[in-house]
Amino acid sequence: MPCGTRCILQTHSCKVRVLLSLPAALDVHVPEDPVVARFGSDVTLNCSFSSGSAFNLSDLSIFWHLTDTKRPVHSFSSGQDQDEGGSYSNRTQLYPGELGSGNASLLLRRVQIQDEGSFTCFVRIREYNSAALLLQVAASYSKPQLTLEPDSNLRPGDEVSVSCLAYGGYPQASVLWQDGKGANLTENVTTSQVASDEGLFNVWSVLRVVLEPNSTYSCVVRNPVLGEETHASVTITGQHMSFPPLALWVTVGLAVCLLGLLIALAYICRHKIRESCKEGPAGETEKIIQSY
Ligand SMILES: *[C@@H]1O[C@H](CO)[C@@H](O)[C@H](O)[C@H]1NC(C)=O
Ligand SMILES: *[C@@H]1O[C@H](CO)[C@@H](O)[C@H](O)[C@H]1NC(C)=O
Ligand SMILES: *[C@@H]1O[C@H](CO)[C@@H](O)[C@H](O)[C@H]1NC(C)=O
Ligand SMILES: *[C@@H]1O[C@H](CO)[C@@H](O)[C@H](O)[C@H]1NC(C)=O
Repeated sequence: MPCGTRCILQTHSCKVRVLLSLPAALDVHVPEDPVVARFGSDVTLNCSFSSGSAFNLSDLSIFWHLTDTKRPVHSFSSGQDQDEGGSYSNRTQLYPGELGSGNASLLLRRVQIQDEGSFTCFVRIREYNSAALLLQVAASYSKPQLTLEPDSNLRPGDEVSVSCLAYGGYPQASVLWQDGKGANLTENVTTSQVASDEGLFNVWSVLRVVLEPNSTYSCVVRNPVLGEETHASVTITGQHMSFPPLALWVTVGLAVCLLGLLIALAYICRHKIRESCKEGPAGETEKIIQSY
């Protein structure tokens, strides 16, 4: 009896194991890390599957849909490829030649900001399984443009607004202001980021400073996803300033020196002229006297 019981139990457990392993026979695999795609470019959302046995394409169904809303993106079933329309119309495509080898990757063209999010790749042959991946959209910021307000007749001690404008990036940037020595300026900074119709951000940051002569202000715009930095800087020199005291005193000093020099020169000249006046006519008088 003990032997018989054991045999029955073994058989039973074997059956259970076979039944449990069936639903897991289809493996669906997608990238774990977010897939980064540049705005406007084409991207392949990779999805591969492996079934234990060979299959007919007519038995294969693939459904790509948005994970959150279940909205269909693209499908393939009963040998028919179907563009699901909507905002994905004419922008999606499977790789038909690779379906048989377990490649259900989706090509998404002209990536838009709204495409960002989670996509689910659902595969069914006899069993079914699915996996979700994250699409992250990114766009580079333009090189910042700096403007001063006011931009002329500046004097040290004046309060000036330095504006930094960078266009067309995604996602939101981090903006950093630095002085000429590379130290961060965090006080008196106002930054706003406004999305365009396409969803790209324009960054506008204003730094209010009290002017010191020969100061440099740099604006650094960083895209956190692309790890890119663009920057611009402005150095405020005498060109912008009307009469900085230092230049003024140098000018006055030079003027005084010049005046002194002129006076000295005039004195010497007058002395010389007077001397030659005394000598000249005297000599001539002598000559005149001699010739008579
Ligand atoms: C998709 O392409 C077809 C054929 O070229 C065209 O008729 C249709 O208007 C396009 N749809 C969109 C949303 O662009
Ligand atoms: C699936 O096919 C696409 C397009 O040819 C390719 O880029 C991708 O690497 C393939 N994926 C796998 C897992 O082979
Ligand atoms: C300036 O700030 C940035 C970002 O907060 C930081 O990474 C960097 O180390 C700071 N630099 C200095 C010199 O403090
Ligand atoms: C910030 O602005 C205030 C008021 O204009 C000024 O007193 C202060 O010095 C400024 N701070 C810096 C670091 O420039």
